[in-house]
This record gives sequence, C-alpha cells and structure tokens, in this order.
Amino acid sequence: MAGKRKVLMVCLGNICRSPIAEAVFINEMNTLNVSDSWEVDSAALASYHTGKSPDHRAMSTLREKGITNYSHKARPITEDDFTKFDWIFGMDNDNIKELNNMKPRNSTAKIELLGSYDPQGEVIIRDPYYDSNSVGFHKAYEQCVRSVKTFLEKRKDNKF
Ligand code: 4NP
Repeated sequence: MAGKRKVLMVCLGNICRSPIAEAVFINEMNTLNVSDSWEVDSAALASYHTGKSPDHRAMSTLREKGITNYSHKARPITEDDFTKFDWIFGMDNDNIKELNNMKPRNSTAKIELLGSYDPQGEVIIRDPYYDSNSVGFHKAYEQCVRSVKTFLEKRKDNKF
C-alpha cells in the first residue's frame, strides 16, 4: 500500500485553531474509517506557546462536540515539515503569507487555506484567541468540520 498522506494544520500559536482542525481531522478519519490512509499533526508559526496544551476554550469546544480524547502540545513548524507533509493548511491569509515566506526551496507540500474547502465559502478561520468568550471557537470548529469533511470527500473520489 502507498504511504499515508500527511496533513499539517498550522496557525499562529498552535493552541486554538490548528489543534481544533487537527482534532476534527482525526475525528473525521475515524468516522470514515480511513485512518490507515492519513496522518495529521499541527504546528505553530510563532513559538511563544511551545509545549503548552490547547487553550481551555478550544478543549471545551471539542468536548462539547463529543471529542474527548484529543491531546496535543504546541510545537513550532520546522523546515522538514515542508517535505514531510503533503498538505500544509493555514487558517488565514497571514498564515499563508508566512508559510510561503519561510518555505525552503525543496518544499513539496501544497500550502492552502483550510477554509478554501468550505462549501459555504467562509475561507478565513478567524483567530479567536483574544475573544472574551468561546463563540469564535465554536465558529472555528464548525468551519473546520465543513472544510475537513469536504477535503476528505474530494480526496476519496480523487477529484484533485
Ligand atoms: P491560534 O491563536 O493561532 O489559533 O493558536 C493564537 C494563540 C496565541 C496568540 C495568538 C493567536 N498569541 O498572540 O499568543
């Protein structure tokens, strides 16, 4: 069997949006019974939160949605990630700009906005870190679900 296809979810701090996206991807792989074919991880563009667990609002959002077994420690993206992963998904345009700036010459990863797969066309997954509540986390979760489902569905039929 060919090797696993690898996806890296990336945001600024790796404590809010990209862990939600990773957890949603794991959940969806399990639901579709395709976890033998895929690998997923997440990483940060900034290293302030290295080693920390996701923000409590990200974890409570996941728990409320039935994802209870996710854990992650924030880590910065590395040069090797650009050849290890087939897709690197950013959450907003600043993420994409930064990923393109830092990618090494031998990068083989497709760098895309995760939200570009959202059938509702909400392309940007806004940073909810400075919000005073968890509304933005719930919204980010729903955006991730729609985009991840569509990505995996398209991939299943080899539509891209
Ligand atoms: P994330 O959110 O990029 O979705 O993990 C943020 C987390 C931390 C910070 C900014 C955004 N920060 O400035 O510390």
